[in-house]
Amino acid sequence: MKIALVYKSKMGASLFYAEALAKALGGEVFFHKQIPAGGYDLVIYCAGMMAGSIDGYKKYKPALEAAGKEVWTAVSCLATPTEELRVKTAEKAGLNSEKVFLLRGKMNVNRAGLLEKWMLMAFRAKLRNKEAKTQEDRDMINALSYPTDYCDTKYILPIVKKVRELEV
Ligand SMILES: Cc1cc2nc3c(=O)[nH]c(=O)nc-3n(C[C@H](O)[C@H](O)[C@H](O)COP(=O)(O)O)c2cc1C
Repeated sequence: MKIALVYKSKMGASLFYAEALAKALGGEVFFHKQIPAGGYDLVIYCAGMMAGSIDGYKKYKPALEAAGKEVWTAVSCLATPTEELRVKTAEKAGLNSEKVFLLRGKMNVNRAGLLEKWMLMAFRAKLRNKEAKTQEDRDMINALSYPTDYCDTKYILPIVKKVRELEV
């Protein structure tokens, strides 16, 4: 099976996962501005979750669909990658949830653009003002205060498993 891993990465998590997936599946890695014209059985778009959306997916959808017969998305996020979040992310992107995988990413606010940094700081302030904070809130405040890296190759396992199922 010919597989292309296309990545768009601000903090580095999606690049990490694109490379890990390429190693595990034997695919080729492409920067999102160099999407191949075609010839792949499967394209996995690796990008971050930005305000609940898959960064760049809407813009690159036509090129991704032209590149491969099948397109999946591997979405790096800071929140705990739950099934509920996966379904919500798929719905927002107009995708079948079977084609969306969540992987825990990383954060360094200093790598964000000015407007993004402002958004993230506003979100942190909102969480800090919450009276009854959950552990998830506290982890989020921490990640928005100090560089945090949750990347782990264990998160690629559901994708690897699903590709193997297609191959038999
Ligand atoms: C502007 C902005 C908005 C974000 N929104 C979310 C979000 O809604 N949910 C979430 O879990 N993570 C959110 N994040 C965190 C990113 O998903 C996380 O940093 C991820 O690792 C980004 O992928 P990348 O490392 O490939 O750039 C946001 C990050 C930025 C910069």
